[in-house]
Amino acid sequence: MPEKSLILTGFMGSGKSSVGVVLAKRLGSDFIDLDAEIVRAAGRSINEIFADEGEAVFRSMESGMLKNVLAAGCANVVATGGGAVISPENRSLMRTYGIIINLNVSIEQVMLRIRGCCDRPLLAVDDASERARTLINQREQFYADADIRIDTDGKSVEDVAAEILCRLKELAA
Ligand code: S3P
Repeated sequence: MPEKSLILTGFMGSGKSSVGVVLAKRLGSDFIDLDAEIVRAAGRSINEIFADEGEAVFRSMESGMLKNVLAAGCANVVATGGGAVISPENRSLMRTYGIIINLNVSIEQVMLRIRGCCDRPLLAVDDASERARTLINQREQFYADADIRIDTDGKSVEDVAAEILCRLKELAA
C-alpha cells in the first residue's frame, strides 16, 4: 500500500486549493485539484456543468474523478470541492486512501473570500450568505470527521500550510 494522500476538505472559500499548492510544494509532492480535473475532463466550466446537466451529474463526475485520483495509488496532495464530503462513498474512499485534513472557515470569511467570484453556482443566489450557512450546517458533521482540523479564519495560506505540517508530524510521532 503506497503512502496515503493528503486530502483537503472544507467549504467553498476555505482555501483548499491555495493551501494545497503550498503544502505540496513544501512536501515535494504533486498537487491535484479535483474541480480542475473535472473541468479538464468535461471540457466545460463548473458553472456550465451545473447549468447544462445539474448538480446530480456534477456529483457523479466528482465521485468518479475522486476514485480515479485516489485509486491511482500515487500519494499526492488533493484538494476536493466543498461538496465532495456529502457522499458516503466519497467519504469512505477518502478514509481508505488518505489523511483527511479539514480547513474550517466561518461564514463571514467565506463571504469575504468569495466576494467578486462568480464560479460557485451553489452560491449564485440573492442571499448567498444564508445559503452558505445552510450548506455549512448540513455538512458540518462530515467536515468535522477529519484526521486534522485547522481553523483558517484570519490566517495566511502559509500559516495554514505550516500548521498542517506541524500536525502531520504530531500524527506520525
Ligand atoms: C461546491 C464547491 C466547489 C465546486 C462546486 C460545488 C460545493 O468547489 O466543487 O461549485 O458543493 O461546495 P470549491 O469548494 O473548490 O469552491
